[in-house]
Amino acid sequence: MRKHFAWMMMLAAAAALHAQKFGGLALTPPMGWNSWNHFGCNVNEDLIRETAGVMVASGMKDAGYRYVVIDDCWHGERDSLGFIHPDPDRFPSGMKALADYIHSLGLKFGIYSDAGWRTCGGRPGGRGYEYQDALTYAEWGVDYLKYDWCNTEDLNPKGAYMTMRDALYAAGRPVVFSLCEWGNSDPWLWARDVGHLWRTTGDIGVIFDGEEGHGIWTSWGVLQILDMREGIRIYAGPDHWNDPDMMEVGNGMTVEEDRAHFSLWCMQAAPLMAGNDIRTMSNTTRDILTNREVIAVDQDSMGIQGFRYLRDGSLDVWAKPLQEGCLALCFLNRAVTPREVHFAWEEHAIRDDFVHVQYVFNQQAYRVRDLWAGRDLGTTVRPFAAVIPPHGVRMMRLTPIQ
Ligand code: GLA
Repeated sequence: MRKHFAWMMMLAAAAALHAQKFGGLALTPPMGWNSWNHFGCNVNEDLIRETAGVMVASGMKDAGYRYVVIDDCWHGERDSLGFIHPDPDRFPSGMKALADYIHSLGLKFGIYSDAGWRTCGGRPGGRGYEYQDALTYAEWGVDYLKYDWCNTEDLNPKGAYMTMRDALYAAGRPVVFSLCEWGNSDPWLWARDVGHLWRTTGDIGVIFDGEEGHGIWTSWGVLQILDMREGIRIYAGPDHWNDPDMMEVGNGMTVEEDRAHFSLWCMQAAPLMAGNDIRTMSNTTRDILTNREVIAVDQDSMGIQGFRYLRDGSLDVWAKPLQEGCLALCFLNRAVTPREVHFAWEEHAIRDDFVHVQYVFNQQAYRVRDLWAGRDLGTTVRPFAAVIPPHGVRMMRLTPIQ
C-alpha cells in the first residue's frame, strides 16, 4: 500500500513537472472560422457541417484556414456524473460525429468553454470540471479550445488558465489553447507558456471607427482595437500570439473597410478567424479572406508583429519585418475623406529595435509589390504616390534588390 502511494506521488510529481502547453501547435497565427461574430448563440450541427464544407469548396482551406470553431451556446447540461453534453436539439448527432466529419475534410475542430461557473451566454462553465471536460474534449476529437472569462468571480486568471492548460495536457490530445480574458490582466506578460494566443481587448463589433455600448460592456471598432494596445508586440511570436479578436470581414462594413481590417490583422500577425457566414459570402468577401499574398504577410515564419512606423494626421504607415530581408508596409487612411500620399522612400529609414532590423532606403533599393492589386509597382527609387480611399489601405511587400 505504501509502495503504491509512493508511486502515485512520484507520478503526480512527474506530471506536475511536465505540466505545460502543447508546444509547436501554432508556429504561425492560427487560421479558421468561429461562429460567434455572425451567429451568436444561434449554432447547430447543420450550420457547422455546411460551414466546414464551404471552407473547403470556397478555397479557404487551400488558403490556409483550418479550424472550425463553435463558440458559445453549443452546451446542453452536465449529467449526474458531471459530464458535459451538447444541446441535444441543436447537436443531435453529438460532438464526436461532428468532429469526425470535420476531420474527414482535412480540417480541425474547435470548441468554446469558460473558466467560470457559467459561460458568457449562461451555459455550464468549466470551473471545477477542468480535467473531466478535457477528457471529454479529447474523446470528441477537439483540436482547439477557446476559453472565456465570464462569471469567474475572484479566480486568479493565470492560475485558472494554467489549470485548464494542465488538464488539456493530461488528457493527452494536442489542443490549441486560446485564452479569452480580454486583456484585463495583461496576459501577454504571463500567458506565453499557458496558451497559444490570448485576446488583448474586449469584443470587436461590425464597426470600423467607433464603439458601441451594451451596458456593462462595449464592442470596439477596428481602429479602436488597433490603437488600444500599442507596445505589446514584443510579447508575441511563434506559438504565442496577441489576439485582437475574430474578424468581422463580410459582416457589413464597406469593401474598403473590410480590406483594411483584414490587412491590419495580417500586419499584426493576428490569428485569422473568419467571423462571417461563409456559406452566403460574396465573391468580394471571399477574395479578401483568401488573398494569398496578404495572408503570407500574416503567416510569415518569423512571426513578428508589425508596428506603426508613422502617423501623419489621418494617415498611418504600418510596417512588419518579414523573412529574407523583406518588409510589409500598409498605408492606412483613417479618415472618411480620400487621402493623398506622397512617400519619397529615400527620405525614410524604418528601424525595428525589437528584432534589430532596418530598412534604409537611400542605401538599399527594394522591389515594391502591391498586394491587393497583385502587381509590381516598380522600386523604391521612385516615390510612391497615391490617393487612398476613405478607410482604405494600400498594402505592399518590399523585396531587397540584390
Ligand atoms: C465573450 C467573448 C466573445 C464570445 C462571447 C460568447 O464576450 O469575448 O468572443 O466568445 O463571450 O458569449
